[in-house]
Amino acid sequence: MSKLKIAVQKSGRLHDDSMKILKEIGISIDNGKDQLKASARNFPLEVFYLRNGDIPQYLKDGVVDAAIIGENVLIEKGNDITIVERLGFSKCKVSIAVPKSSDAKRLKDLEGKRIATSYPNTVNQFLKKQGVKANLHIINGSVEIAPNIGLADGICDIVSSGSTLFKNGLKEIEVLLKSEAVLTTSPKISADNQAIINKIQFRLKSVLKGRQ
Ligand code: PRP
Ligand code: MG
Repeated sequence: MSKLKIAVQKSGRLHDDSMKILKEIGISIDNGKDQLKASARNFPLEVFYLRNGDIPQYLKDGVVDAAIIGENVLIEKGNDITIVERLGFSKCKVSIAVPKSSDAKRLKDLEGKRIATSYPNTVNQFLKKQGVKANLHIINGSVEIAPNIGLADGICDIVSSGSTLFKNGLKEIEVLLKSEAVLTTSPKISADNQAIINKIQFRLKSVLKGRQ
């Protein structure tokens, strides 16, 4: 029988809630802590624990059939991938922020300036849409430190509680997009595995309805 390969964030913000929702839809997973792969005991499913940023490519290549991933990562790296269901957790924004002392009030005000980000495609999309030219400085983490060390005039990163912005003396000036965890499928998914996804989706809908 066919087994659905689903990618889940290995560690980080989405991991715990992703595992929780699988449990709530009645899928129990043998979770050897250091394993990168685990099987469900009572459902035709294997979980692959992967790095967030790698998941869109695995979906495109059909290495995994489905994933629970932040919508913001899909927008950044895999916008041709289908969203099956929005999951209502790990809500966040992708925002532009500047030092508290800055006069900039919106992305447009960063014309000709330097923006540090881990989301270059997303920022470029918005810069293009708004006809703004800025210089992107791509870094993989701790983006909020960039203005303080003189690397950038503004940043674009995820805002959840807002605490990282606050601690680094930054203020949000424009929300580019809002994001939450979503269930997605590979464009290469087989008919058998699509049938498994349909079952998962059916169960998810009732769990999500119960949460409201
Ligand atoms: C993420 C993100 C923001 C912060 C937002 O960083 O890049 O910096 O969380 O959350 P908050 O609004 O609740 O403070 P993370 O802690 O994952 O570290 P990293 O950027 O170094 O990967
Ligand atoms: Mg960060």
